[in-house]
Amino acid sequence: MYFPIYRPRRLRADANIRRMVRETALTVDDFIMPLFVCPGEGVRKPISSMPGNCQLSVDELVKEAESLKKLGIPAIILFGIPESKDELGTGAYADDGIIQQALRALKAEVSDLLLITDVCLCEYTSHGHCGVIENGRVNNDKTLELLAKEAVSHAAAGADMVAPSDMMDGRVGFIREALDREGFDQISLMAYSVKYASAFYGPFREAAESPPQFGDRKSYQMDPANTREALREASLDIEEGADIIMVKPALPYLDILHALKEEFDHPLAAYNVSGEFAMIKAAAEKGWIDGETAMLEALLSIKRAGADMILTYFAKEAAEILG
Ligand code: PBG
Repeated sequence: MYFPIYRPRRLRADANIRRMVRETALTVDDFIMPLFVCPGEGVRKPISSMPGNCQLSVDELVKEAESLKKLGIPAIILFGIPESKDELGTGAYADDGIIQQALRALKAEVSDLLLITDVCLCEYTSHGHCGVIENGRVNNDKTLELLAKEAVSHAAAGADMVAPSDMMDGRVGFIREALDREGFDQISLMAYSVKYASAFYGPFREAAESPPQFGDRKSYQMDPANTREALREASLDIEEGADIIMVKPALPYLDILHALKEEFDHPLAAYNVSGEFAMIKAAAEKGWIDGETAMLEALLSIKRAGADMILTYFAKEAAEILG
């Protein structure tokens, strides 16, 4: 009778041996927490499709940032909900815009936390698209001008890193040049290089009040069917000066994450998006899965696939567990 000489179960026998052979470690260093900032004072408005997450006014944001820092989370990424929206998304690059106010307050009151800003127009435009609309379509090159203004104004208000998420062609180089020209050569750039037109952004669009008012984002965000295009997008962003490249969403695109890890040496981020978060929360609420274990397993899988860092709404919860 055949009997195995090598028995894999020997290395699974108890917790200590499992710790010794574990190949991937999830730590609090891996996390970037997304936060939504809104006008007002003392506002903590829960986002129903993202349990535990709130739209925060600047004063509440400062408190939240402080508690994230205490947990050891190295960075936050900010999304703004402006007082009002218009055709050209002027709130995105206004001196007293919501993100600019938030950055100044955070810089003054919270030390030693890396501040990233999402650079995009969709939260600020009345039509909800990520750029300037002309003849019913997003005009790429006119949008670049506004994105560069937005990035520069974030840097001037105190951002340490800007993260363009709009998916316009050439925006990384355009923003990099504008930052350098204005004296912000030390501000780093994390590019949403590979961002798919995904159904998993649904809850975010509720949180940021930013669904497109007509059509969809398929003429600028990527087709979920494409891998080689992902490699082209990432290499363009690297050529244009991106410091960090990103894949978004994460869980349905672990193959893409892995492909980028194999192909490029740049630090690689993954965005575990709102819909991925909501699915786990909803199933856990129903008692269909163990939410905590599922969360840690999902985050670990993103790390294992190749992510050096993870933008995730689980950051706080996971940090509390990982210590
Ligand atoms: C802005 C932006 C979006 C997300 C991050 N930046 C929304 C979108 O492109 O529709 C989604 C994040 C998430 O779902 O958690 N363009």
